[in-house]
Amino acid sequence: MKKTLIAASAISMSALMLTACGDDSDAGSDDGGTITMGFAQVGAESGWRTANTKSIQESAEQAGIELKFSDAQGKQENQIQAIRTYIQQKVDVIAFSPVVETGWDAVLQEAKAAGIPVILTDRAVDSEDTSLYETFIGSDFVLEGEKAGQWLVDNAAESDVNGDGTINVVQLEGTTGAAPAIDRAEGFAEVIAADPAIEVTASQTGDFTRDGGKQVMESFLQSDDSIDVVYAHNDDMGLGAIEAIEAAGLTPGEDIKLITVDAVKDGMVALSEGKINFIVECSPLLGPQLMDLAEQVVAGEEVEKRILTEETTFTQEQAVEALPDRQY
Ligand code: AHR
Repeated sequence: MKKTLIAASAISMSALMLTACGDDSDAGSDDGGTITMGFAQVGAESGWRTANTKSIQESAEQAGIELKFSDAQGKQENQIQAIRTYIQQKVDVIAFSPVVETGWDAVLQEAKAAGIPVILTDRAVDSEDTSLYETFIGSDFVLEGEKAGQWLVDNAAESDVNGDGTINVVQLEGTTGAAPAIDRAEGFAEVIAADPAIEVTASQTGDFTRDGGKQVMESFLQSDDSIDVVYAHNDDMGLGAIEAIEAAGLTPGEDIKLITVDAVKDGMVALSEGKINFIVECSPLLGPQLMDLAEQVVAGEEVEKRILTEETTFTQEQAVEALPDRQY
């Protein structure tokens, strides 16, 4: 009975995770040139992630690449299981955006032993063995944190909402252990250190989700009535914080300043309305470049080990101007 249950749950897990096209026996480059890519996505935690998934799926279709796509629902073990399945399926190339930074060496060694190239997208892995992947395409998250910190240093006087000479910042961190959470905190801390009046008084994970940001902000507001600034590691958590601030009878953007990262449409709308004060862009549109890279590595061409995404920042006026053409 127990065995039956385990088998049944294993089947439903693979059905849940692998929303792939095609059966599991093909190997792309052996079937007349079609490349097969196995892509292990983090989940669907944010507007950014939804736009990233769309970019990857649409670009694969345009490039004629057969995409096997899985959603790890924020769990590293699911991502590892998906990668192992792609290895068994003998895909031509594996791409993934690691949920967290550490713990990838074993499965990446299995891919290497099987001769399957791996491309990291969006997030890095923390491994000393850089031969385990071909290239890493994505943002410089430390720089994003620095840009957020620089805006606060430059706007310190206006950000001292309580007027007591200190700028109390609460930080809504991304998923614990994820590269963007680690790096955005680091870059921000480095830059605000230039102004001793700025202090991070509380910092907690909201897991990159709107609900998480709302819940953490509610508890921050309950225990501290001197918050001047919220620094959220993504727009979704910032949007959740806005709900909590409004529910507490305060005006986001005025009574409490907000700085976020991503610049997805909902975030840009809030910025244009003055509910967020500054957004650092992080582009999710990695699909086209990823497909080009996949074609190159499958063809055995050498590619740059690190490919940086170009990004900007937005003030309220810039958001108003950019919104009509915003793709995501
Ligand atoms: O890794 C990129 C980050 O992951 C985005 O900033 C965040 O919104 C997402 O969940």
